Formats: sequence, structure tokens, C-alpha cells
Amino acid sequence: MAFYVTTPIYYVNAEPHLGHAYTTIAADVLARHMRQRGEEVFFLTGTDEHGEPVTQAAEKLGITPRELGDRNAVHFRELAAKVNATNDFFIRTTDPEHEAVVAEVVTRIHDNGHVYEGTYEGWYCPRCADFKTDSELVDGNKCPIHLIVLEREKEDNWFFRLSAFQEPLERLYTERSDFVVPEIRFNEALSFIKGGLRDLSLSRARLKWGVPVPWDGSQVIYVWIDALLNYYSALSYARHGEDLTGRFWPASVHLIGKDILKFHAVIWPALLMAAEIDVPERVGIHGYLLMGEHKMSKSLGNVIDPFQVVDVYGEDALRFYVLREVRFGHDGEVSPEGFEQRYTSELANEYGNLASRTLAMIGRYRDGLVPKAEAATDLAVHFDGLAEQVCAELDRVELTLALDAVWQRVKRLNAYVQDEQPWKLAKDAGGAEQLDSVLYGLAEGLRVVSVLLLPYMPAAAERLLAALGAGERSLDSARFGAVGGGARIGEPGQLFPRVEPPEASAA
Ligand code: MSP
Repeated sequence: MAFYVTTPIYYVNAEPHLGHAYTTIAADVLARHMRQRGEEVFFLTGTDEHGEPVTQAAEKLGITPRELGDRNAVHFRELAAKVNATNDFFIRTTDPEHEAVVAEVVTRIHDNGHVYEGTYEGWYCPRCADFKTDSELVDGNKCPIHLIVLEREKEDNWFFRLSAFQEPLERLYTERSDFVVPEIRFNEALSFIKGGLRDLSLSRARLKWGVPVPWDGSQVIYVWIDALLNYYSALSYARHGEDLTGRFWPASVHLIGKDILKFHAVIWPALLMAAEIDVPERVGIHGYLLMGEHKMSKSLGNVIDPFQVVDVYGEDALRFYVLREVRFGHDGEVSPEGFEQRYTSELANEYGNLASRTLAMIGRYRDGLVPKAEAATDLAVHFDGLAEQVCAELDRVELTLALDAVWQRVKRLNAYVQDEQPWKLAKDAGGAEQLDSVLYGLAEGLRVVSVLLLPYMPAAAERLLAALGAGERSLDSARFGAVGGGARIGEPGQLFPRVEPPEASAA
């Protein structure tokens, strides 16, 4: 089976921040998890480099949009590596191969009769690269997302007959109740469709920075249509000399933030239908990471720098934090204080200490060999169905619920140590058999949770699995009791050492 997961492609008009790292981390968790399930995975991320937001930002800096793209694409590529993302390709919409596919697909949409010439007038936000309806405006005539005053714009454009796809889209939503998850976003997209669809500009006349309209060199393709097509174009040239489209299209899941729902859940499937290309299987929507009450964004100046957090705490801690603190799919607040709190109480204490205590006791009491013993049924029972539960949650893009299911078992193992007090058993000559069972149960429990945590915290979980002498990483091996005792343990070092918070983030 093939699994194809994507992130949005990020605008190169700004430097990356934690909001961008968030989607990349989430997509990486799904990619790693599906590889553990034995699927053939393709994971795509990249940068969105055409259009007005990039042109305007470049103008401000006195450089060309291409120079700005070259400069900032590097940082987004670095961010993916920094959070340990295993993307198979990094697409840039300035890649000539991508531009060729855009020209080809819009030509097909044109030839299929879904494009006409017309005039558009409306409120335009250059930062969204999108027109706004009267009802969307806030404070008179401001963009609801960027809170900047909008101008009324009038343009002669080529139009995409989006309105003609109202019925096919409604049918799609009726037939596939999980086309968009979570449900609240499904309902939002469907009511947008039912509210009536207006045709959409397919091109821009005033802009120069984009893919030329194949049949009209005076205009460029609207940046959103160019950008959405990245998901499809990438497969045709990501691997040299090979076209992966047949293997991986349609995409299994597009992960995106809620601000770009309409583009992915309405416009994108309509464009694909118009071009007679299969629509994706699912669109998974996440909420905003907030600081204070506001969406974290460079323009509002309230950002956590993911590069700095990773330098100080490591990428596993950042990956864990963003997916644990805010329920995926919902909005939620993040803060340096909240981060440090979870780092200490959950990563260092609940997981790190549990691991080091367990390994130390096996070293001290059993000469470094995991005892060959039976685990207590009342411990084993807590792991029944866990791997299946994680799979089911991740299939619904519930990344936080899946992580929580695993973490409840981490807490359970901690409670088990407290209940059994193995250090007391070790002093009691009659407690040897019980101690064997407790130590085996702890090692096996730690092994199972670590296999399931690999997608979330790949480096730390891998170090612990190696120290437990565990060979298997597949999801099949995440069953309690799948591995018996006998392994020789090693030394993982401190998984989450104490760190001094950096001055800058404390300020
Ligand atoms: N270029 C378009 C996407 C084109 S996809 C065909 C774009 N780029 S973006 O860089 O502005 O945003 C990319 C993603 O980052 C969006 O999904 C957005 O929701 C997400 N985030 C940016 N800031 C965010 C937070 N503070 N919190 C969570 N995600 C947010 O839109």
C-alpha cells in the first residue's frame, strides 16, 4: 500500500516560525508511523514562491522575488531538517518542472471548457492573495486574518468556473464523510459550498511574478492555483527519471492549518475534477498555535523560534510539546513556560526517569539481563489493543489523542514502579520471582511505548530501544509480550537532561 502525505508549501516572504514547524512535524509523525506499518510512504513539503505576498516582501527589501525565494527557501529546508523531518522531496514552485505541470493542467482545465474571460471587482488582501466578501471583513474594511485595511480592486482576468462544481462537490461530501477531518471543518467546508460558489480568478493581470497563462502571455496564473498544484506536480519529477504519480496519487492526506481550508477543501477538489484528476483521500486540518490570545505570526511579532528551542532542548522535545500541549485540530496556547513544564514533568521525569531507573535496576539486580519471566496480567492488560488504538487515531489524524493513549501507559508504568517498589523486593530473599516479573514487565512496557513513540520522538525512543536491546521497530512489535526476556541492556545516557532555559526565551 502507498501513503502520500503533504504539508502546505510555505510562503517565502517571511522566515519560518513554530507555526510552520508544526505542520511539518505532524506530517512527519504520520509518515514515520505509516512506515512502521509497512506502507510505502512519500512525504512532501516545500515553498510557495510566486505571487503578490512574495513580490511585496521582496520589493521592501530591494531584491527580486527570485532572490528572496532563494534566500528563504534555504531556511524552510533547514527547518525541516532541524525538526528531523523525513520528507522525501522539497518542492519549490519556481522549479521549472513544477511550472510545466501547472501550464499543462490549467490548459486541460481550459480545454475542458471550465475557463472564461471576465472582470472581477472586490476587496483584495495582498497578504492572503485572496478576495474577501463583504461579510468576511472586520472593522469596516479590514482583512479578518491580517487586520490590514483592504482596497477595492478591479481586474480583467481569466476565470475558473468554480460555480459549476457545486453539485459535484456536494456529492463528494455526501459520499465521503471523512474527506475533511475533524468534523467541525468538514461541516464548515460543506456549508461554504452550500452557501453558493462564485467563480474564481484563475489569473492575475497586474502581476509579473508567476507562471504565464499558456494561452495569454500577458497574465500569470493565480498563485493559489499554482501552489495547490504542487501536490500533484511533485510526484512527476521528485525522483529522477521516474514518475511516481501512478504509485502515490491521489494523496492520502493533505495536512493544513484552518486558515487555508477553503482552498484545500473546496477549490482544490474542484480544480482536480475540472482537470479529470482524482481528488485526494483526505484533508486534515489543524488549529492555530496561539501565544496569548493571538495566532503566532511573524507579522504580529509573537513567535517562538523553533531553531532556538531545538538547539537548547533537542528536536524530540519540540515535536512532543506541540503535539501534546494543543489538541491537534484545535487552537491552543503555547508558551516557553508551558514548554519547560512539560519538558521537566513528562519527558525528563515520567519517561526519562522511568527509563533510567528501570535500566539501573536491571543492571544492579539482574546483571544487565532483562529477566525471562511472565509479566503480571494486571499490568499487561493495560496494553491490550493499544497499537490498534494508535493506528485508529492516526488514521483520523488525531495526533494528540494517539499520543495521549501512549502516554497514559507511560504514567501507568510509573504507577507500577510505585506500587511494586522493586528496591524492596530486591532486599527480600523470597521476592526474587516477583522482582523478575516486575523488571520484565517494566522493560517490556517501556519497549512497547517506545516503539509507539518513535514517530513522535524518533531520537530518544530509538536510543531507549537500543538500550533495551530491542531489535524490531515495526508496529507489529508494539504488542506487550511480543518480546520475551533475555536481552542485554545498554546505556542510553540521559534522554532528557536538565537544561538551563536560555536568557532570551525567559525574557
Ligand atoms: N503558501 C500558502 C499555502 C499554500 S499550500 C498549497 C500558505 N503559506 S503560509 O506559510 O502562510 O502558511 C502555511 C501553513 O502554516 C498554514 O497551514 C498555516 O495555517 C500554518 N501556520 C502559520 N502560522 C500558524 C500558527 N501560528 N499556528 C498553526 N499553524 C499556522 O498559507
